[in-house]
Amino acid sequence: MYGGKSSDSLPYNCYTQSLHLRNRLSKNTMTEKFNPDNDLTPKELAKQLRLPEGETGKQIGLQMNKGNKHICLNSYKVLNPKNGDHILEIGMGNGFFIKDLLLMATGLKYTGVDFSATMIHEANLINKELIDAGHIQFKQASIEKLPFNDSSFDSITTTNTLYFWPQPVQNAQELLRVLKPNGKLLIAYRSKNFMDQIEFSKHGFEKYEIQDVESLLREIGLKQINTQIIEEPALEFDGEVIQMEGIYTAGIK
Ligand SMILES: C[S@@+](CC[C@H](N)C(=O)[O-])C[C@H]1O[C@@H](n2cnc3c(N)ncnc32)[C@H](O)[C@@H]1O
Repeated sequence: MYGGKSSDSLPYNCYTQSLHLRNRLSKNTMTEKFNPDNDLTPKELAKQLRLPEGETGKQIGLQMNKGNKHICLNSYKVLNPKNGDHILEIGMGNGFFIKDLLLMATGLKYTGVDFSATMIHEANLINKELIDAGHIQFKQASIEKLPFNDSSFDSITTTNTLYFWPQPVQNAQELLRVLKPNGKLLIAYRSKNFMDQIEFSKHGFEKYEIQDVESLLREIGLKQINTQIIEEPALEFDGEVIQMEGIYTAGIK
C-alpha cells in the first residue's frame, strides 16, 4: 500500500542490493546534510542529534525535518492509527509532522515525549494551534522513566531514537508498560549497514539490523512482530546518488 514490504515477503538480496547503492555515499557529504553551517565536528553533530540543545539544536531540528521527512511520515502511515486512538511518540524532535498524523483518522490524541528542552520548546511553538485545541501535548522526559500510568496508550511510535536508548530491553519494557493490551509498538530506524557509512554515527550511536530489533521486541513479549522496508526517493550528495530507505519494525502487546 505504501510501497512497503514485509520482512516475510522481501528477499534479503533485495535489501542487499540497496545497501550496494549506499556504498557510493561519501562519509562527509552526509555529515554536511545535517550540518548547515559546516561548523560542527562529526562528534558535535552526533551529540546534537542525540540531544539537540540551544540555537544549534533548533537548526538541527529544522535539518532533521528535511532529511527525515519520509521516514517520519511513513512511520505514521505504518502506525495506521484508528479513530479515537491516543498515540505516544518518543523523541519527536520539533514535531513538525504531527499535523499530518492527526489527519489520518478522526478524534486522535497525541502525546510527544522528548528529553530535549529545546525540542519541547520548538514543538510547543510549531504545534500551538493543535495544543490549544486540546489534541496534543508534549512532556519533557526520558524513555527510561515515562510519566504515565500503565496501559495509557493505544499505540507508541518512535523514529530515529533507537540508536540512543541507554538500556534497550529495559527501555522497551517501559514502553510496553504504558501501552494498552493489543496496542502497537513501532520502531522506525536506518539500518546498521547504512549508519556504518556515516561519519557522525561513530560517536555514540548504537546500530541495529532488522533481526536485532525483532529480537528486542520478541524478548519483551510482543506478538505479531513484523518488519517493513520502505524505499525513499534517491538523494544526491555531491553528485553521488543514493537510494534511501526506512525500516519499520512493529509488534502487538
Ligand atoms: C535524531 S533525533 C530524531 C527526531 C525525529 N524523530 C526524526 O526522526 O527526525 C532524536 C530525538 O530523540 C530525542 N531523544 C534521544 N534520546 C532520548 C531519550 N532517552 N528519551 C527521550 N528522548 C530522546 C532527542 O532529544 C531528539 O529529539
